[in-house]
Amino acid sequence: MQTAHTKPESLVLAIFGGSGDLTKRKLIPSLYQLFKQGKLPQRFAVLGLGRTAYDDASYRPHLDSALQQYLAAGEYDASLAEQFLSSVHYLAIDPAKAEDYPALKARLEELDAEIDNPGNYIYYLSTPPSLYGVVPQHLMSVGLNEELNAAGQPAIRRIVIEKPFGYNLASALELNEIYRRGFEEHQLYRIDHFLGKETVQDIMALRFANGIFEPLWNRNYIERVEITAVENMGIESRGGFYDQTGALRDMVQNHLAQLVALTAMEPPVQFNADLFRNEVVKVYQSFRPMTDAEVRRRVIRGQYTESEWRGEHHRGYREEDKVPVDSRTETFVGMKLYIDNWRWQGVPFYIRTGKMMPTKVTEIVVHFKPTPHKMFTDSDGQAVPNQLIIRIQPDEGIALKFAAKVPGSGFEVKRVSMDFTYDQLGGLASGDAYSRLLEDCMLGDSTLFTRSDAVEMSWRFFDPILRLWQDEDFPLYGYPAGTWGPKQSDAIIERDHSWTNPCRNLTNSELYCEL
Ligand code: BG6
Repeated sequence: MQTAHTKPESLVLAIFGGSGDLTKRKLIPSLYQLFKQGKLPQRFAVLGLGRTAYDDASYRPHLDSALQQYLAAGEYDASLAEQFLSSVHYLAIDPAKAEDYPALKARLEELDAEIDNPGNYIYYLSTPPSLYGVVPQHLMSVGLNEELNAAGQPAIRRIVIEKPFGYNLASALELNEIYRRGFEEHQLYRIDHFLGKETVQDIMALRFANGIFEPLWNRNYIERVEITAVENMGIESRGGFYDQTGALRDMVQNHLAQLVALTAMEPPVQFNADLFRNEVVKVYQSFRPMTDAEVRRRVIRGQYTESEWRGEHHRGYREEDKVPVDSRTETFVGMKLYIDNWRWQGVPFYIRTGKMMPTKVTEIVVHFKPTPHKMFTDSDGQAVPNQLIIRIQPDEGIALKFAAKVPGSGFEVKRVSMDFTYDQLGGLASGDAYSRLLEDCMLGDSTLFTRSDAVEMSWRFFDPILRLWQDEDFPLYGYPAGTWGPKQSDAIIERDHSWTNPCRNLTNSELYCEL
């Protein structure tokens, strides 16, 4: 059961970082989708903000080409785009400078008058993370945080903050403190776009709308869980950001932690912001802290090196633009963690992420324990335990792997698969995770956004790893672009197992090295 939320009739969305990459790749295409589906408030305006010297007239064509470039094939419609972009504006300000905020306030009030908006604003922080603590303070300095308009009437004032929220535990605590000074928790929308993905939300449907999985979903029947979120691209033009961030902050502390939470959480009594997020926090609270020696054994970091792959030369990470030649930033993390609670005691969760891997895939593989007695085996005399594979992307779907008898004499069995793909439901809804989350924010539904206590709990677990990595002697392993990461990451999976790689035979072990 979900709590009802209503959309305001009018709203201005102010995007800090309006001339940046995320705005053109994700935010504007997602808003266009919402516009196309009639899901934006009736009276709506976007105000792009940034240091680049656009005005309305030059900003709109810039975004129009972004729509043509980033919308899926067939989704761009020139006349719809023109209508949508007529509600998009731009104001050149330096978000780091307090003295630019009175001009922002004045421009917002002008837009209020133009679209008859009673001061409802959503601010989207699509800036470098270094500004996440600066912008809210400047908003406070001109009263733009207060949920009251100039006439003293209640108004929407929400702020969407991109990840990573904090650089480590101390900075996350400090950021939370800054926001607490001027905003209530219900005004804060810490976005993790993985939670906007249909297939990620479907983990809950799979677990809690079906009676057959939940009785097996525990340490008695599950041997281990693997979560992989890898990509076959590098860091593209994001060298400056990425080198300060690394895979742990970019993917693990947020996206992968959320996937672990959804896989491991107890069923919330209702699907609403408080109850759902309480369960997420409980999972993070149960992550078993690691000693330094355990971090060294259970966490592997890697960095891609140059390689020839599929007939092409690929640069190593250190050759990428804006990356120092001696960078020790990780582009791969593989780790084993435990959840210390009644349900999961002793069940290892293996998680990994990496750039420049052989393919782009995000999936969760739940490995069930083998039958207690090996009566039937495969041609190698091995048991064939069940697996449930939740494919988040691409080829979204779910597969249940089980043993079936190979036809003929004898009793050899083989692993077969029962598959569901989203195509069977008519495919995934158009628009992407950002559309869903932007709409939720307009509706005032923060269920799929990260609460302050969850950020803190997650950092409490990951922070000691980052601290240990500052030691020069903590290994950073190289892996050739196009492979499944450092071979040392195989060692964290127990002796009898290996990572479940969606496509195999692409590793070239001679090329591994320590950097
Ligand atoms: C982002 C990271 O949050 O997620 C990127 O900053 C990464 O580095 C991206 O590429 C992956 O998201 P998706 O939705 O393409 O799997």
